[in-house]
Amino acid sequence: MKKFGFSMPTKILFGPGIVREEGGALALGKKPFLVTGKSSARRSGAWDDVLAVLPGGYEVFDQVENNPSVETVRRGGRLARAADCDYIIAIGGGSPLDAAKIIAVLAANDVDPLDLYTEGWSRRALPVAAIPTTAGTGSEVTQYAVLTIADEETKKGLGGFDLFPRVAYLDPRYTRSQPLEVTVDTAVDALSHLIEGYLARRAAPASDFTALKGLELWAENIAALKAGSFSLENRASLLLASTLGGITIAQTGTCLVHALGYSLTYFHGLPHGRANAVFLAEYLRYTETVEPQRTEEILGLLGLSSPEDFGELISGLFRQKLDNFSLSKAEKRRYVQKAVSTRNMSNSRGEPGLEELMKIVEASVKS
Ligand SMILES: [Fe+2]
Repeated sequence: MKKFGFSMPTKILFGPGIVREEGGALALGKKPFLVTGKSSARRSGAWDDVLAVLPGGYEVFDQVENNPSVETVRRGGRLARAADCDYIIAIGGGSPLDAAKIIAVLAANDVDPLDLYTEGWSRRALPVAAIPTTAGTGSEVTQYAVLTIADEETKKGLGGFDLFPRVAYLDPRYTRSQPLEVTVDTAVDALSHLIEGYLARRAAPASDFTALKGLELWAENIAALKAGSFSLENRASLLLASTLGGITIAQTGTCLVHALGYSLTYFHGLPHGRANAVFLAEYLRYTETVEPQRTEEILGLLGLSSPEDFGELISGLFRQKLDNFSLSKAEKRRYVQKAVSTRNMSNSRGEPGLEELMKIVEASVKS
């Protein structure tokens, strides 16, 4: 029998209007540092809801870019410390949420962000309230944050128990302001978390439960994703599927799809979910050989019978835009080299090595 643990310390509050209704749980201290991107928090309505329930003064940091850099969190940490803030409110997609978590660490620890990767940190991070405006990242319920590290030419995750937000407010109305492209990109990121989590070496009965339920919910929205038209019910179940994906990978971690995807984002600017999408079908073709039962279950829940069907689904969702994506042989070799030494690889079942990874990349992307 497999021994396992299950850790989910984040309080989840879900539903339309939930920030204003349950605003009391948002005040995790005396003065918040509001972390967000340039516009999506305001566009989504989340910004007004938060300001309406905040009891007193606050400080704003609205400079988080897509795929946040070390410099951004360094600046944010300094400002949060200087403003004497004692908790963080993160509003936005995965980038602001991840940046906010690291700013929470830096506000409590006067160290360089790059040192966190090698030395960790000693003082507990400030508590974080997370309010996602996309349905994909799952960051609102994980202990991970990903930064872009220019020196290493990649994105790199940091993990720690105090990176779990204290509270997550999930209001599906906030995701309505996202363009269709972002809705699809982020939905496929959520799908990737659910699939990789279910196929991870660290998968266990409790994470299987959240992964399978998430896949079932995600599948109910395939028609809406194809049509590009979403009711609030669609938005709600995609957001819940995304959060279940986050809860899953908080237990299991991600696998080789994320390891490969990071290079497509870093070197070619593909949004994170789309970068994962490039490799998912071939990953399933690979897992069919090392984990046939689980792969079949995933395909079955999505109403598909083979990895080829899965590839067609992905191609359709991205309106064939991904079909012409190509990489040179040298680029492929380089990205495989980068991925093969990551922890995500040892978490992938079947012990894939350089050769298997190269096969997946060759079959996924034209030269
Ligand atoms: Fe992801």
